[in-house]
Amino acid sequence: MDDDVLAGTRVLVIGGNREEAESLRSELTAAGSPSVDLVPAVELVAAQAAAAQPQVILSLGDTDPEAVRVKLDPLGLDSGPPVVPLSELTPDGRLGAPAVRRLSLVLEHRAMRRRLGELEAIVASQALSSFRDTEAIRVDALQRLALAAEYRDDNSPEHTQRVGALAARMARHMGMDDRFVWLVRQAAPLHDLGKIAIPDSILLKPGKLSDEEFEVVKTHAVLGARVLADGKSEVLGVAERIARSHHERWDGSGYPDGLGADAIPLEARLVHVADVFDVLVHERPYKEAWSVEDAAGELRAGSGTQFDPTVISAFDALGAGSWTTG
Ligand SMILES: [Fe+2]
Ligand SMILES: [Fe+2]
Repeated sequence: MDDDVLAGTRVLVIGGNREEAESLRSELTAAGSPSVDLVPAVELVAAQAAAAQPQVILSLGDTDPEAVRVKLDPLGLDSGPPVVPLSELTPDGRLGAPAVRRLSLVLEHRAMRRRLGELEAIVASQALSSFRDTEAIRVDALQRLALAAEYRDDNSPEHTQRVGALAARMARHMGMDDRFVWLVRQAAPLHDLGKIAIPDSILLKPGKLSDEEFEVVKTHAVLGARVLADGKSEVLGVAERIARSHHERWDGSGYPDGLGADAIPLEARLVHVADVFDVLVHERPYKEAWSVEDAAGELRAGSGTQFDPTVISAFDALGAGSWTTG
C-alpha cells in the first residue's frame, strides 16, 4: 500500500463490529491517516465528529450512510464531511491500495467541487460589477483567469495567447468577419479554464494517468463552461462554447458531448486545431517538442476525422510563417 495516500486525512469509522473497525483503523493508519476515530453507533456520531473534525467518514456493515449524513448536516447544507460506505470502496471489506486510492479520489472530487464553488463566486462578483465595466475590462479580467489556469498545467503561460492568435488567424483566413475574429482571439485563451478545478495530484502527475484519473481531467471542459455560463457579454458566450467543445472531434468521438462536424461550434473547432498544434510543437513535461512540419503533418492526417477539414485547409494556407508567431 502507498505509504502516505491519506496523509493529513482524519477519518471517522462508524458501525461494524469491534474487530472489523479495529482492523480498518490499522489499515487506515498504515495508509498515512494521522487520526482514526471509531464510533459504534449513529447516535454518537455528531458529538464524536465535533471533537475529531474528520475529513471523511467510513460507514461499515449495515450502518445507513444517509442517517449519518442527516445527523451531521440536518439542514442539508452539504457542509459535513462525506460519508462513504466501505462496501463502495472494496467488495471484500479489506481496504488495500486500490480502495485507498478510490477513497482519495472521493476526497479530491470534493475538494474540486469546493474550488469550483469559489471560482463561481469570483466570476459572479465580476458579473455584478460588469454592469459598470467596459467590455475591455471584463476581457482583461478573463485573461487573468485564463493565465491562472494555464499556470496549473503548463510551464509556458504564453500557450493560451498563441492558441488565441492562431485560432483568430485561421478564422480570418476562412473569411469570418472582424467581430468574430476578435471574439475568438479574446475567448480562446480561456479554453482550459476548468483545469483550475482539477486536483493537483492528477493535473501535475508526471506519469501516465489511470483511466479513472483521465475521466477526472476530462471534466475540465464542462467545468470551464459552467463557470463561463450565463455571462452577459458576447465574449463570455463564445468562451463558454470554446471551453465546452474544444475537445470534440469532427467524427463525433470527442468529449464531453460527442458532437460531430457542424454541430461543434466553429470557434471550438478552430481552438481544437490551434491547441493541438501548439501542444505538439512545444515541449511538455511528458513529451519532446515536435518539429513544425511533423506537427503540421499530424494535423493534416487528422483532417476529416479529428479536425474540421476546412479549418485544416485554412491552417495549411496560412503557411509555416504564421503558425508559431504569438
Ligand atoms: Fe482542454
Ligand atoms: Fe491548451
